Amino acid sequence: MPKLFSKPEITMGLDIGSRLVKLVQLRHTNKGIELMNVGMDTIPDEAIVDGTVMDIAPVVKVIQALLKQLNIKNPDVNTAIAGKAVIVKKVKLPYMSREELNESIRWEAEQFIPFDMDDVNIDFQILSTNVEMKNMDVLLAAAKKEKLNNHLNLIRAAGLKTIIIDLDAFAVENAYEFNLAPEPDTVIALINLGCSITNINVIHNEIPLFTRDITMGGNNFTKALQKELLLNFDEAENIKINFSRESAKSNTDLSSNTFDKDVHIIIEKIMEELSMEISHSFEYYHSSQENKKITKVVLSGGAAKTFNLSEYLTKKLGVKVEINNPLKKIIINENKFDIKYIQSIAPILTVAIGLALRQGIE
Ligand SMILES: Nc1ncnc2c1ncn2[C@@H]1O[C@H](COP(=O)(O)OP(=O)(O)OP(=O)(O)O)[C@@H](O)[C@H]1O
Ligand SMILES: [Mg+2]
Repeated sequence: MPKLFSKPEITMGLDIGSRLVKLVQLRHTNKGIELMNVGMDTIPDEAIVDGTVMDIAPVVKVIQALLKQLNIKNPDVNTAIAGKAVIVKKVKLPYMSREELNESIRWEAEQFIPFDMDDVNIDFQILSTNVEMKNMDVLLAAAKKEKLNNHLNLIRAAGLKTIIIDLDAFAVENAYEFNLAPEPDTVIALINLGCSITNINVIHNEIPLFTRDITMGGNNFTKALQKELLLNFDEAENIKINFSRESAKSNTDLSSNTFDKDVHIIIEKIMEELSMEISHSFEYYHSSQENKKITKVVLSGGAAKTFNLSEYLTKKLGVKVEINNPLKKIIINENKFDIKYIQSIAPILTVAIGLALRQGIE
């Protein structure tokens, strides 16, 4: 008989991005957590726009092809949503028990969440309580029901069963915290740069202090190249990725070639816009006196691979910027996987890994 309430040994994380579907399967053993399967494929253009699924069929097709290719039969999956339909806020509420908050959460949330309460699902986490001040810090998360239902329908249509539905930003945090020892003196901004959405999550001592999604990402680079160099989307995308690869190889940021020079100028213009957007969010975060200064930035997501971006942001933001390696503590069998390739796509896998690491609702 299967054990009741036992945690699953094998877990799957599925990250459905606007550009790429990423799938990671992990095995939880006594020796540690082992990579079992990893797969990634491109979603056809315009099927998902700014995180909203416009056309379900091609996305289902990509997911099913990945499952087939990796020979995955277990339908249990952890997934996540992100974007404008999701809001996360840390708020102060009068002290009350978890049960009382459960009862009154919709009423309490109304003053902080700019959505109609009838249209959203609310979740919360009590972060800390201050008995003397008779208040507590609570993390509120609100997601539009429509967004949530569309996502659940998509998972169902792919023949899968949702075990946990999370937020991209929290999956990134989970992957980060699993791989690194706690850093009590560091306030970390985790920035997940996707194709059209960038998730920002500022954490301290494993507690999110500020979480926001901005609608900017790798697509901004591609679209700028497309417009300035009169290319189609795929040509621009290829040029962008090749530029990152080639420049990384030769480790030069300005080539002698005129075309590469133009590409570089266009990419740097978007880097500037991106760094301004991030700066605005940081200013907003810092505007609350309570908030401690951000001391480190950690990038993940596909656009984190843009050549020179971490160096550029280090200069502009005035803090150390590094690229996340969500596979650091995960056991990888060298006979089964091409380690070099897996490491090269590791930042892109962050959300899927953070999701697969969850073995159940804590
Ligand atoms: N080597 C590279 N250099 C530059 N950009 C890259 C590279 N590899 C991937 N990207 C970009 O990363 C983006 C895809 O990243 P990711 O998979 O994290 O996004 P997504 O999850 O599909 O989108 P979103 O989260 O915004 O819905 C694309 O814009 C792609 O062009
Ligand atoms: Mg993404």
